[in-house]
Order: sequence, then structure tokens, then C-alpha cells
Amino acid sequence: MTDPIGDTLVGRDELMAKITELGARISIDYEGKDLVLVGVLKGAVFFLADLARTLTVPCAIDFMAVTSYGSATDSSGVVRILKDLDHPIEGRDILIVEDIIDSGLTLSYLLKNLRSRKPASLEVCALLTKPERRRINLECRYIGFEIPNVFVVGYGLDWDERYRTLDHVAGVRAAAIAELTGA
Ligand code: IMP
Ligand code: MG
Repeated sequence: MTDPIGDTLVGRDELMAKITELGARISIDYEGKDLVLVGVLKGAVFFLADLARTLTVPCAIDFMAVTSYGSATDSSGVVRILKDLDHPIEGRDILIVEDIIDSGLTLSYLLKNLRSRKPASLEVCALLTKPERRRINLECRYIGFEIPNVFVVGYGLDWDERYRTLDHVAGVRAAAIAELTGA
């Protein structure tokens, strides 16, 4: 079997430098606000944990788990909530923390859902984005890295629940995906 882990797209040091930069911007923008970081399980866990520790403003942390039906590498846009937030968000300043925006369908559903709960503000911080794959237009205030159209793993991102614990972001080799899907 082909080793699925290919080229490094974002190395460990680059990740940490960018997260420090994002944290500094967020700390300025949310001075005096009632910030709640909403992490999207499970992919955003490592990113959220590192980002939250760079903030100089107080924040609460809550999580949602969603699943979008589809294959291991493609989302369908039909989203189901597996775990909802523990607390109401009405009147609070919500920052959704996401691992990656691919088609944008998951995030678009989340934004609509959370907006209906009447937060004071609602913004998005995504570590990675794949602009070529976007199927829906989205406002995302904080973005770490734009990456090309390759399936990636590591630093929270999985391929069928594997490789989340890699300390960097790497591409999955096309040959490995082809072996799995028989394509
Ligand atoms: P979207 O709804 O197509 O934007 O997909 C969003 C979700 O799909 C992300 O939160 C990830 O969990 C997953 N996803 C999308 N692209 C990748 C990837 O390249 N590697 C791992 N997971 C991905
Ligand atoms: Mg996933």
C-alpha cells in the first residue's frame, strides 16, 4: 500500500507563527467584548487549543459537532448536529473556529443556525481554506492559509479519522485515495 502521507503543505513553525498573528488580531478586535470561541469538533480542536492560548482577552469556549453526509473526502452539504452548544449565545460575540473551509457548505449551515440564536456578533476563523473548491460564497474574517485543491491531514484534520495527530498539515497522496476508492 502507498504511504498516504505526502508533501508538507504547512509546517509546524509556520502554523505556530500564523496562529500567534491571528491571536494578536483577535485580541485587538475583541477587546471589551464577550467572546465565545465555538470550536467545530473534531478537526478544530488542536487549532482552537493553540489559538485560545495566544489570546490576551478573556474568552469562553464551547463546541459543536456536526456531520455532513458524504464520502471520506467530499461533503454533501446535508448537515446534521451531533452535539449542540452547552450554553445559549444570545447577545454574545461568537467566533466560530474551523479547521478548513472546503465547499463551504458546512460553515454556511452553521452560520445560518447560529445566527438564528441572535448573537451580538458572529464571525469565522478558519485555519485553512481551499478557494478552488468553494461552492457557496462566505464571509470569513480570519484565515490562516489558502491551500490548493488537495485533500490534507494533520493538526486536527483527518482522513477517515486517521492522522489528526500529525504536527503539520500534509497532503494525502492521490494514489492512496485511488487505492481506497478503487478509482
Ligand atoms: P465543507 O462543508 O465542504 O466546507 O467541508 C468542511 C469539513 O470537511 C471540514 O470541517 C473538514 O472536517 C472536512 N474537510 C474538508 N476538506 C478536508 C481536507 O482536505 N482534509 C480533511 N478534512 C477536510
Ligand atoms: Mg472531518
